[in-house]
Amino acid sequence: MDVIDAIRKRSSVRAFLPTPVSKEQVIQVLEAARFAPSGVNTQPWHLTVVGNNLKKIIGDKIISALESGVPENPDYLYYPKEWVEPYKSRRKACGLALYSALNISVEDKEKRKAAWYRNYHFFGAPVGMIVHIEKRLGTGSWLDMGMFIQNILLAARGVGLETCPQAALAEYPDIIRETLNIPTDHSIICGIAMGYADWSAPINQYRTAREPVESFTRWTE
Ligand SMILES: Cc1cc2nc3c(=O)[nH]c(=O)nc-3n(C[C@H](O)[C@H](O)[C@H](O)COP(=O)(O)O)c2cc1C
Repeated sequence: MDVIDAIRKRSSVRAFLPTPVSKEQVIQVLEAARFAPSGVNTQPWHLTVVGNNLKKIIGDKIISALESGVPENPDYLYYPKEWVEPYKSRRKACGLALYSALNISVEDKEKRKAAWYRNYHFFGAPVGMIVHIEKRLGTGSWLDMGMFIQNILLAARGVGLETCPQAALAEYPDIIRETLNIPTDHSIICGIAMGYADWSAPINQYRTAREPVESFTRWTE
């Protein structure tokens, strides 16, 4: 697959076929992903592949925490506390596109919640992964993690699989650490759902927009 094509045609997939993905395929993706660059080759990435039993347990535990009003306690602040332009509008457009693909109106809180809750069971993907990093590393290593994550998303496409990175799975890091036996000195960065896309599912039938190059690029002498 052409690299530009792999990048341009990747999208976040949120409905998967039940077709199993073998351990060998997962390894193939990770074998490629580990060639991500990292500052002084630190390779700070840690990854836990979640088995089917624990995928269910994690999802059930997080939903139960949410339903009983346990506050989220993420290891890091992904989003700003207060949304400002232009990010606010982009965020809104992103949510609108998702819920209108599902034919859910903005007012229908219950349906929106149900759709969002699918996050916690990795959208039913055959493969669920959690990406984590040692807390004693610096902010720079989080850049390396982003590159590693993107490599997974792209390498997956190379073997016919699709993905969705999921910060939702970092909302209750204590549940993730405890259930998956991840050391307490690791921060939970995100989850990744991976499998064969169900392209017939409405949720997979929209594309997010991008700003043109000139909107974010400056050229100097
Ligand atoms: C680190 C990261 C975390 C994300 N977390 C979630 C998530 O929890 N749930 C979700 O449905 N999408 C999640 N997304 C997907 C974004 O919504 C998506 O990348 C964005 O809307 C652009 O769409 P695209 O990936 O289809 O190009 C996440 C993306 C990234 C990069």
